[in-house]
Amino acid sequence: MVSPDRPLLRTLQGEAVWPPPIWLMRQAGRYLPEYKVTRATAGQFLDLCLSPDHAVEVTLQPLRRYAFDGSIMFSDILMVPHGLGQTVWFAEGEGPKLLPVRTDEALAALDLAGFHQRVGPVYDIVRRLRSQIPGTTTLIGFAGAPWTVATYMIEGGSSRSYETTKSLMWQNPDWFQRLIDLIVETTVAYLSAQVSAGADVLQLFDSWASALGGPAFDRWVIDPNRRIVKALKAQHPTVPVICFPRAAGVQYQRFADQVPCAGLSLDPTVPLDWARDTLGPKCLQGNLDPILLVAGGEALMTEVRRIGDAMRGHPFVFNLGHGILPNTPLDHVAALVAEVRSW
Ligand code: CP3
Repeated sequence: MVSPDRPLLRTLQGEAVWPPPIWLMRQAGRYLPEYKVTRATAGQFLDLCLSPDHAVEVTLQPLRRYAFDGSIMFSDILMVPHGLGQTVWFAEGEGPKLLPVRTDEALAALDLAGFHQRVGPVYDIVRRLRSQIPGTTTLIGFAGAPWTVATYMIEGGSSRSYETTKSLMWQNPDWFQRLIDLIVETTVAYLSAQVSAGADVLQLFDSWASALGGPAFDRWVIDPNRRIVKALKAQHPTVPVICFPRAAGVQYQRFADQVPCAGLSLDPTVPLDWARDTLGPKCLQGNLDPILLVAGGEALMTEVRRIGDAMRGHPFVFNLGHGILPNTPLDHVAALVAEVRSW
C-alpha cells in the first residue's frame, strides 16, 4: 500500500517533502456549492454519511477543484455512537443530537457486537475511494477521540461547558472509565477496519481536549489516545496516525511525549517555532486560522508564508488549525493552494 508517489504519506513517514503536502480539515462541506446540491438530494445528514454513492461523491468534490494531497473520507465522528446503537440525528440548523447515555442501563445497552454491521457503509465508502482517487492522493480515515466522543454521548449534543460530562467523570470515574474503555475498543476496531478497506493514514480528532487539565487531561485525553495509537501500530505498523488534541496549549508537550503518533495536528494558537523544537520528531500539521481563509487578501498570504518559513526543512503538512468554515470563498482556497504549491 505504501506508494513512493504519495507526498502526504511520505511526509508522515518522516520525510521533509517540499513544497509541503496540503489538505484541509472538513474540505468536503458547505463552502462548496456542489456539496449543498448532493446534501439536498441525500436527505438527512446521517443518510449522506451512510450512502456510499453520495458520500464518495462529496469526498471527491474538493479533490476535483483543488487536487489536495489528502482525501479524508466523508463521514462524522458521531458514527461511533451510531454504530454502538445510540440514537443519533442531526437537527437542521442545530447540529447533532443524541439520546444521552448517563446511566448503567444506557451504558449496558450500547452494543459493540452489532457495530461493524451498522457502520458497514463506511468501509464500503473507503474501498470505493481507494479505487477512485488519484494514485498520488493519500486516503485519510478518521474517528473522534474518546473524550470528545464521550462529551457528545453524555450531553446529547454539542455543549459549551461539558457540565454533565465532567460531573459524571468526577462523581463516578469508574462508570466514566467503562464508557471511555468501550469507545477505545470500538475505535480501534473501527479504524483498523478502515485500514483494511484501504485507508493510508488515520486521524483522531480530540476537538474538546482543551476542556481538561492536570491529571484529568492525562487520564481522559492522553491515555485513550495512547492506547488507540499503540493498538493500531501493533496491527498496522506502516499506517501513520495523526492526533489532534485541539487547543491543548502547553499540554501538547506531555501529549507528544506519551502518545506514539506519527503526526500532531496543531490549532492556530500553537507557536510554530515552539512546536518544531518541542514536539519536533513528530510530523506537524496545521495551523492556519480558518477565519483567515474567510478573510483572504494580504493578511492571508502573509500568514501562509509565515507558516511556510517556520516549517521549511521539517516534515510538515499544510492544513487549517480547525475545520474550514461554510463562508469560505472558493477563490481564497484556490489562492492558498497556489501559494503553497509555488514554494
Ligand atoms: O473533513 C472532511 O471533509 C470530512 C468530514 C467531517 C465531518 N465532520 C463532516 C460534517 C469530519 C472530519 C468531521 C469531524 C467532526 N464532526 C468533528 C471533529 C472536528 C471538528 O470540527 O472539531 C466534530 C466535533 C463533529 C461533530 C459535528 N458534526 C458537529 C458539531 C456538527 C455540526 C456543526 C456543523 O459544522 O454543522 C457536525 C455536522 C457535520 N459534519 C457537517 C459536515 C460537513 C455539516 C452538516 C451539514 O451538511 O449540514
